[in-house]
Amino acid sequence: MRLVTVVGTRPQLIKEAALGPALRARHAVTLVDTGQHWDEAMAGTFFRELHLPQPDHSLGVGGGTHAQQTARMLERLEPILVDRAPDAVVVYGDTNSTLVGALAAAKLGIPIAHVEAGLRSFDRRMPEEQNRVVADHLSTWLFAPTDTAVTNLAAEGVRRGVTLVGDLMQDLAARVAGEIRDPSTPLAIGAALGLPLRAGGYVFATMHRAENRRPDALRAWTAILGDAAAERPVVLALHPGTAASLADAGVAVPPGVHVVAPQGYRTTLALQLHAAAVLTDSGGIQRESAWLGVPCLVLRDRTEWVEAVERSGGRMVVVGLDLERTAEVLDRLADPADAPRLAEERARSLDLRAAGAADAIVRALDALPGSSHGA
Ligand code: UD1
Repeated sequence: MRLVTVVGTRPQLIKEAALGPALRARHAVTLVDTGQHWDEAMAGTFFRELHLPQPDHSLGVGGGTHAQQTARMLERLEPILVDRAPDAVVVYGDTNSTLVGALAAAKLGIPIAHVEAGLRSFDRRMPEEQNRVVADHLSTWLFAPTDTAVTNLAAEGVRRGVTLVGDLMQDLAARVAGEIRDPSTPLAIGAALGLPLRAGGYVFATMHRAENRRPDALRAWTAILGDAAAERPVVLALHPGTAASLADAGVAVPPGVHVVAPQGYRTTLALQLHAAAVLTDSGGIQRESAWLGVPCLVLRDRTEWVEAVERSGGRMVVVGLDLERTAEVLDRLADPADAPRLAEERARSLDLRAAGAADAIVRALDALPGSSHGA
């Protein structure tokens, strides 16, 4: 088949690294990068570290309001799809780039393959929820990562073309897990960042959701991180959008919270594995922490990844932006007296297996009408 794959953000580059090679082995793939994430730390470094091919087309659309960003991407993507006339367009996840890939393809009558279909927060105010609902309802192939995602789609009347394939990001995490297990890893990362990091002796944090960029939310979660930092250093890998919101709102990061640039793929996984705990609002980091077995506190009032919470044996807790609750859970799951030993044991016994999602997606594409490999 002739495929066009649309990427644009950091998590999509990671998913492309997991699926792209399997797709390219069987199909002619044109890679389009919308440029939604454009700077070195958010995009450039991932192309190199994950050995992604240079995009065939770079749309160069970053920044702007949601409407501006979406409109510019649509205008630039359409002629590429017309020219290439692919058998299908592949989109990942729930970003504005996903929405654009799905919408542009649907308007041209091109079938869509949606990877990470069926996730729901049931909060339609979230831009991600808007994007994923539209993408799901326009898609021909819906590749669901979890049972809950399949159930969510069925509840909306979407059953045709749905395949449970597992989590693509687990495939990639499993590929590199062996490289980050060494207990001296945090020391080396700390040396590069100018921070004294030892296994189990720090908390790793990321925050980027739109709802956590409002002034009241910024004040709430910075206070939570400040409180956690009274016990041990907090390493906050700061998304540029969140950094801009903090500056606009005049909210300072408390002492003991060390702001670092967004980190590369392996470094981010390693910072999670060897931490006492992870505090985040990221969907990707939530799952990675679950696979690595690290205590993870989700600073949102809900999650799309209910299985990750259910199967965490109490290690993953959705705490919202509640300071007391976060402090209580953190004390329970990552007592400073015990955390270094737990981190060391976790790294030593880490045995992360691939989910097989990339192969399942390729097989499902092969089996469907329209595929030259189909029955
Ligand atoms: C997007 C996705 C979100 C995903 C996240 C991963 C949407 C609606 N949201 O959010 O689902 O989880 O990516 O990080 O698509 N910026 C930079 N440099 C960059 C990229 C962005 O400075 O390389 C700035 C932008 O100018 C903007 C802000 O960060 O001010 C937000 O970027 P945006 O592309 O709107 O989405 P994200 O918040 O990254």
